[in-house]
Amino acid sequence: MKLFDVYPLNDIIIEKALGSHVWDNHGTQYLDLYGGHAVISIGHTHPHYVKRLTDQLHKVGFYSNSVKMPLQEELAGLLGKVSGKEDYQLFLCNSGAEANENALKLASFYNGKKKVIAFKKAFHGRTSLAVAATDNPKIVAPVNETDNIVFLPWEDEAALEQAFQQYEVSSVIIEGIQGVGGINVASESFLRKIRTLCDTHNAVFIADSVQCGYGRSGKFYSHDFAGVNADIYSMAKGMGNGFPIGAIIIAPKIQPVYGMLGTTFGGNHLACAAALAVLETIQAENLISNAATVGNYLMEQLRTFDKVKEVRGRGLMIGIELPEELAHVRKELLHTHKIFTGEAKPNVIRLLPSLALTQEHANQFLEAFAKELKK
Ligand SMILES: Cc1ncc(COP(=O)(O)O)c(C=O)c1O
Repeated sequence: MKLFDVYPLNDIIIEKALGSHVWDNHGTQYLDLYGGHAVISIGHTHPHYVKRLTDQLHKVGFYSNSVKMPLQEELAGLLGKVSGKEDYQLFLCNSGAEANENALKLASFYNGKKKVIAFKKAFHGRTSLAVAATDNPKIVAPVNETDNIVFLPWEDEAALEQAFQQYEVSSVIIEGIQGVGGINVASESFLRKIRTLCDTHNAVFIADSVQCGYGRSGKFYSHDFAGVNADIYSMAKGMGNGFPIGAIIIAPKIQPVYGMLGTTFGGNHLACAAALAVLETIQAENLISNAATVGNYLMEQLRTFDKVKEVRGRGLMIGIELPEELAHVRKELLHTHKIFTGEAKPNVIRLLPSLALTQEHANQFLEAFAKELKK
């Protein structure tokens, strides 16, 4: 059998990883500023993470959600503490799309309404409603098409107000920083506007934090910069540092009913051990403040390059927009300088490294980047 060929692949086989580095099968070392797409939060093969997962595997790896799992309670407690949302409730699942799917569904269960407001360039995942709320017709199959999603221009307060007049809005879903869409930071005033309108119209504010959450922005949830709370936060990627786990946290006003949500794998013992190891390391190593410090440093330095059109982002979620003719720079960074970065559009480089990235690593990237721009 061959693989279903949906991914354009780099011709690189990674065999070893540690911290912010990976090594290929020829022993070549790469600096990883991509983190497997914002997934590696505490660094590859972190010793505490490896130990916690290994110890757990020797005890019990999996049992379903039909028995009590104190590890889930421990995770809910620590996540509440580290994120500052202690009065929220935790529902565990397996991926970002699944988290958003559950968030949108729960919102509709809560208020009995159907319309979802999403924004231009949004990416919320590839499952049915999540992909319908994703602004990319190429990945929406006919079966996913629905009138329940209304796309509005990014940051257009008047259009938002108008939509609330026109529709019975169930929820508004927004990334605090659009990732796939090219690193666009939602303004504090726009997020506050969403909060006010959701309050007035009994709609649910869903903060998609799958990519921009978990400390990457320099705050636990990037929506926190606005100083208002969403009703549901969805998360995944950095939550398990590579172990598949996703979640939503839910405000106290939304109450559970048996059977309303569910999953076979979500919240299993191994996944909880991985997520606990991540939060413990984020706390022990002050990784959120490191993300803010090293991220600010990188952005300041990047803004000094004449050829850079724009630098967008917060913390260690950074987009570098280059002129079209410099779209090749990302490939050169990988092949010549052995640095992994991500791409939003060919001319927008995305940096999504581990939150433990050091200033020394940042400098290594800046030197390579400078050399490429001088060519
Ligand atoms: C903002 C956002 N939401 C949702 C998802 C979907 O997550 P997953 O690929 O884990 O389903 C992604 C993935 O890139 C994302 O960036």
